[in-house]
Amino acid sequence: MAKKTIRDIDVKGKKVLVRVDFNVPIQDGEITDDNRIIQALPTIRHIIENGGRAILFSHLGRIKTEADLAKNSLDQVAKRLSEHIKQPVIFISETRGKALEEAVNKLQDGQILMFENTRFEDLDGKKESKNDPELGAYWASLGDVFVNDAFGTAHREHASNVGIANHIKETVAGFLIEKEINILGGALEHPKRPFIAILGGAKVSDKIGVIRNLLEIADQILVSGGMAYTFFKAKGYEIGTSLLEADKLPLAQELLTIGKDKIVMGPDLVTSKAFAPDAEKFIRPVTAIPVDEMGMDAGPETIEKFTQIIIDAKTVFWNGPVGVFEFPKFAEGTRSIAEALANIKESATTIIGGGDSAAAVIQFGLADQMTHISTGGGASLEYLEGKKLPGIECITEK
Ligand code: 3PG
Repeated sequence: MAKKTIRDIDVKGKKVLVRVDFNVPIQDGEITDDNRIIQALPTIRHIIENGGRAILFSHLGRIKTEADLAKNSLDQVAKRLSEHIKQPVIFISETRGKALEEAVNKLQDGQILMFENTRFEDLDGKKESKNDPELGAYWASLGDVFVNDAFGTAHREHASNVGIANHIKETVAGFLIEKEINILGGALEHPKRPFIAILGGAKVSDKIGVIRNLLEIADQILVSGGMAYTFFKAKGYEIGTSLLEADKLPLAQELLTIGKDKIVMGPDLVTSKAFAPDAEKFIRPVTAIPVDEMGMDAGPETIEKFTQIIIDAKTVFWNGPVGVFEFPKFAEGTRSIAEALANIKESATTIIGGGDSAAAVIQFGLADQMTHISTGGGASLEYLEGKKLPGIECITEK
């Protein structure tokens, strides 16, 4: 990578500011997926084992009102980190001020401190999210050097990444950003072929840029899930009550024309009359979807077609489920894709592009069968669109 990394600096005795992305899913007060915490451990360990003083910070959720504060405190994340790293994590429930400054100044070599959710600063004029220069300068003043390891946030230009980098002498990448760039960048720049992209999820609008860029790079793009119905409609099929982005029809038509044989879609799908976990399911050809039914999952012939393509792939990028996998009855398609990827783990690089597809492989117990589960949802998509990410651009060049 052309950017400086944590390997290029001496952290001993230094106050090392570390932006991590600990924006983890929390349900009923419990962290349901701590992949982002685990993936940050190598950087944190490197700092403490080399005598640095780690000052960690992250955002969590979105903060619009006072009511958002309590449920988005990072204190429980600090506890989970402490369990994983097997040492205390000093938690300061402030984003600025005397208590934080004193704790930072008292920090000893090898200790870890974490401060409160950076987006608490959004309550007062969106200072974090609008990259308020005074805030970036303040946070920069707390440390000697800045390690950005928040790949999941790299598509944001916020005070806690770009803002700090603008006000500190040196910004380096942590091991996670380095790994993400090596794997995602490797797929874009010199993929082993065949390179197959599997794109699903609800919205075409989220994936337009990715489809365009991958049409240039990938050998085939398998399109399924909620976004496929807009493509089926663009092909002239009736799609019943399935998801449709009517304003994206011309675009879907354009992509189908440019994509020609590269865009692969299935011949069948699973439908139901209601969006409900216990709804009766039907298997229909895509050319004969009844007016009162909606697509809920990829059909068996579609899965077979996709699986045959995946078997020969050498690089696979997957973003977006192919069905409503949250409902077990409609999870078959998504599970089959995850299993097909697990089956080629010895012969191919398999990359899961964060978000729902990452949640799916975790739910199916197949996470450790994948080469890489990206910690970036939006960030990995923007990276694959070929966009420059502000959180990476701000890292000092080698
Ligand atoms: C993510 O979960 O994609 C990142 O943490 C960014 O979060 P955001 O979409 O709230 O900026």
